[in-house]
Amino acid sequence: MTLASAPGKAILLGEHAVVYGRPAIAIPVWEVAAQAEVLDDPGAPPGAIWLEAPAIELAGDLASLDPAHPLPRIVLDTLHAIGVKQPAALRLRVTSTIPIASGLGSGAAVSVAIARALSQHLGAPLDPSRISGLAFAVERIHHGTPSGIDNTVVAYGQPVYFRRGEAPEPFRVGAALCLVLGDSGVPVSTSVAVGGVRERRRANPVTYEARFDAIGALVDEGRDCIEAGRPVELGDLMSRNHALLQEIGVSSLALDALVHAALEAGAWGAKLSGAGLGGTMLALAPPGRQHAIADALLHAGAVQTITTQVGA
Ligand code: MEV
Repeated sequence: MTLASAPGKAILLGEHAVVYGRPAIAIPVWEVAAQAEVLDDPGAPPGAIWLEAPAIELAGDLASLDPAHPLPRIVLDTLHAIGVKQPAALRLRVTSTIPIASGLGSGAAVSVAIARALSQHLGAPLDPSRISGLAFAVERIHHGTPSGIDNTVVAYGQPVYFRRGEAPEPFRVGAALCLVLGDSGVPVSTSVAVGGVRERRRANPVTYEARFDAIGALVDEGRDCIEAGRPVELGDLMSRNHALLQEIGVSSLALDALVHAALEAGAWGAKLSGAGLGGTMLALAPPGRQHAIADALLHAGAVQTITTQVGA
């Protein structure tokens, strides 16, 4: 049996502008994860692959499932990538603790966990860059024009400074960062949020490019703050990034209320994370404040909070 897992993700700075070539910083969130388990199935004929994902009520033989569905698709693409046409019969089971449509990268994590478990089980483990590429192809079916940041951070499993089309840059974390995530419980559609920004940019390109530039500049300043261990300044940059995300129309009353509650509870900074319009926000907590911030988020309507740490 082979088991592999992949984390959720959050975007510390730079979502949306990253679709237009600006940099962004993302972190893995290991407190939630997708897991794939691959077992040999000696009773079944060679080439038969049984695939099941109880959370989305999917169960069936690979040959009988829609090959465009993300799960069969990542299985087929992984087999193709490792040059296996007909493996010995297998059973593949996928589970996940990452809330679906919450902006935490659940789709990317499921793809990465499957590609990792299957390639390892068949004796041809793929490196994070290949796995990220396979997950990216699946993301493109559903999200239209993804930048690739979600599959990258999930496949590498470490904080990344990312620019579309370039290799991700890992970076030093000078002082540990404690982050509290609050899930608004409102489902996110990445393609709707990204599509809305695309429309508004088309109508108003100069203003939108200026906002993307401003976000990109915050990301570069943020990287310096993280490397130098200056979390208070990083918090301020996160809050300024949230204001720019409001300006490009991807926040919501629920997300703004959570951001406000986190700041009132003493966060150094807070912003939405991911596509927005719903989903998750994150707050940078001073030492010892994480519980008070999590309580404030629940009080302000979050359906779930997750506390995670970046760096030692
Ligand atoms: C989604 O996690 C991040 C977005 O920037 C979309 C993307 O980069 O593909 C909103």
